[in-house]
Amino acid sequence: MSIPSKCHHRPEVLSSIVTGISLYHHVNLNEGARLKPMDPVLNTKVSVLKELIDAGGQTVSGGAICRSLGLSRQSVWKAVKALREDGYAISSVPVKGYRFVSSPANDLEPSWIEAALFDCPWGHPVLYWKSLDSTQTQAKDLARKGAREGLVVTTDYQASGRGRLGRKWVSASEGGIYFSVVIRPALPPESIQVLSLVSAMSVQDAILNICGVKCQLKWPNDILWDGAKLCGILTEVSSEPGLVHFAVTGIGINANSSEMPLGDGAEAISLSSIIGRRVHRGEIVAGVIRALNRAVRELESDKGVGKALAEYSSRCDTLGRKVRVVFDGGEINGEAVAVGEKGEIIVRTGNGTRSFTSADVKHLRSFD
Ligand code: BTN
Repeated sequence: MSIPSKCHHRPEVLSSIVTGISLYHHVNLNEGARLKPMDPVLNTKVSVLKELIDAGGQTVSGGAICRSLGLSRQSVWKAVKALREDGYAISSVPVKGYRFVSSPANDLEPSWIEAALFDCPWGHPVLYWKSLDSTQTQAKDLARKGAREGLVVTTDYQASGRGRLGRKWVSASEGGIYFSVVIRPALPPESIQVLSLVSAMSVQDAILNICGVKCQLKWPNDILWDGAKLCGILTEVSSEPGLVHFAVTGIGINANSSEMPLGDGAEAISLSSIIGRRVHRGEIVAGVIRALNRAVRELESDKGVGKALAEYSSRCDTLGRKVRVVFDGGEINGEAVAVGEKGEIIVRTGNGTRSFTSADVKHLRSFD
């Protein structure tokens, strides 16, 4: 299916997009189980959307949609009505059927993202709020209540976004990408730092595939472009000794924003300023979720952690650089020489090597 990247403006329907869970999804949040790849993950509305988009601008008969999806005519009609309420323009051609005209103005419309992820076990559901305190807080709350793996929470604006090391993550007033995904990894708690490194590689891959931009990785999971921060990632975990209950990975990307208030004092840059055009935020969210799903399953496989660490080490721009490490209780300068087997950064100083699991690393220029 080719998801159209053009969105036509229909401001009158935007406010109806702003809602909570119940309007969009009939998902049993107590289910908690990991989706198997072949599970029927699309709800009726998203399935009908995919049929319409797949028709590539041709009119498709209601009967054909019914047969293809095993639905009644009334269910198809209801789904089309719901899609129109979400901001899709779908024309009814008498006797012939329905024709997809355009996507909603809101490029974070959750049904669009779900349709783009039709063959991916993650991203069902995608939940969208116009504004939230933090997607991270919301996703963790849902995970605690048993939300299934791959549930995505996204928003246009976070009033209390959170960053690493207890910092704030300040939202741009418009055009940013903020989302969190619930992960139920079959990994021991000590491998969670590696999950966080893998998240960074997944974002790097998605941005390269969609925008053609090759970003750098700064340990542990900042995404930089020409030294400026493009994306920050926060991974939080609920665990007990020997067992991870769930992890929530939250990703903030400067997408179309002209202001870039990262909130951690770093120089920042946005995707739109790098490529000279606006990006479709839903396409980026879907691309990251797809890459991350694949990467997490690989990470869980035999020797997955070792392979991920080798791949990360080959990509990490911090290695081989002079760095300043600011940690709880001090700071040191040295050369970043390796990433250890738990994802920690190993730094050589005049007094030998030290490793850090949780710290802020600044890349130094040779004269710093
Ligand atoms: C950092 O660089 O310090 C990590 C920033 C992580 C920000 C994202 S935005 C989506 C999610 N919700 C939050 O409150 N934080 C993460």
